[in-house]
Amino acid sequence: MASDREVFRAPKGTRDVLPPDSARWLEIIGAFSDRAARFGYGLVMTPIFEHYEVFARVGASTDVVKKEMYDFFDKGNRRLALRPEGTAGTVRAFAEHRPMAPWKVWYCAANFRYERPQEGRYRQHWQLGAEAIGSDDPQIDIEMIDFLAGFYRELGLTQVQLMVNSMGDAESRARYVDVLLSYWREHAETLGDEMARAEQNPLRILDSKRPDWQTVIADAPKLSEYLSDESAAQFDAVQCGLTAIDIPFTIEPRLVRGFDYYTATVFEFQGAALGGAQNALGGGGRYDKLSEEMGGPPAAAIGFGSGIERLLLACDAESVVPVPESRVDVFVIDTMDGSDAGVVLHELRGNGLRADRSYGSKNVKKQWSAASAAGARFGVMLAPREAEAGVVAVKDLRNGEQVEVARIDIAQWLASRCS
Ligand code: HAM
Repeated sequence: MASDREVFRAPKGTRDVLPPDSARWLEIIGAFSDRAARFGYGLVMTPIFEHYEVFARVGASTDVVKKEMYDFFDKGNRRLALRPEGTAGTVRAFAEHRPMAPWKVWYCAANFRYERPQEGRYRQHWQLGAEAIGSDDPQIDIEMIDFLAGFYRELGLTQVQLMVNSMGDAESRARYVDVLLSYWREHAETLGDEMARAEQNPLRILDSKRPDWQTVIADAPKLSEYLSDESAAQFDAVQCGLTAIDIPFTIEPRLVRGFDYYTATVFEFQGAALGGAQNALGGGGRYDKLSEEMGGPPAAAIGFGSGIERLLLACDAESVVPVPESRVDVFVIDTMDGSDAGVVLHELRGNGLRADRSYGSKNVKKQWSAASAAGARFGVMLAPREAEAGVVAVKDLRNGEQVEVARIDIAQWLASRCS
């Protein structure tokens, strides 16, 4: 009889990650954590929700704050919000705990943005990210970009392009924003209804993908022409450092990134294999004033975030990081009541073997089929005659050879053959 119970589904814009695909996630996260350790970054874990004001600091005029935040009042009437990105919470933790600077940390975290879901853009997405807080040395900008570039390279991705730009310091940017706003006003007709957005944040228009604005955007004044001497020298140092370690890059004067906190160096890695609107694989930049804005000490800082779902799309497009073969070393087949299998498995797993079994009283043929479906290298058969003789039958499933091994030695015997 058909059930009239509702089948629940994951909320719009969210996805379940199931085995065997989840094994790719583990591989990617493992590769990132390994690289982070080589670069001297420690894992940081901040709450999934914070006081709304912490996240609001990423930019009053950004879509993330204005339209996309998952905010709510808790039972104690506190206004909280789910994390939309990793930087604000990390800087809040820095301001709160005041660790020794530079504080070099990495994270793997879910983020929530109420976006229009499409391929590569979700309402819950995961980021691998890193932040280095407490130094304005351009060497750290180079290290940060090297960290991410090498991560993509080590995964096997080749169709990745790096764009860099400088947002300058506060004075350079203020001068530039004035000039840019006058320019948008001259082109108010093209911008139409969006002129109000240009008035509120002139930089936001620069990274628009609207086809009808592209000519006006291309001819807009460039921030690089308004950099102070100090900002220009800092940007030069970053470019020289990247060249010295053979990291190819393009200077993209219109790269301004999506949050208000950025200062000086900004960068983005685009995946050539990803579709146009979602081609940002990862990106970041300096945010030298955010710590102070969070009530912390003055602490220049830089970081990046890289979306795991997009990374997987890029991996699929380039056929790298395949789903790893899932295989068990040993499958235990019990022709008795199944309780001996539990004891043998306990021993095998304790000796480092990947071992599995069937459950319930399955017939022997079905258990052997389950063993081959699991890709087992060995089948261990527990049967009354062998049990009485103190042995177990072991079959090598690659060549069908069968031997008897003393029950007492079985874990060691298998471990030495499966290592
Ligand atoms: P973001 O550019 O907003 O920067 O996000 C970083 C990366 O997260 C993007 O390049 C993209 O791969 C992924 N991403 C963002 N939104 C979505 C989404 N809705 N669905 C799927 N993937 C997405 C930041 O979040 C900054 N906190 C980066 C940073 C760290 N800057 C300094 N430190």
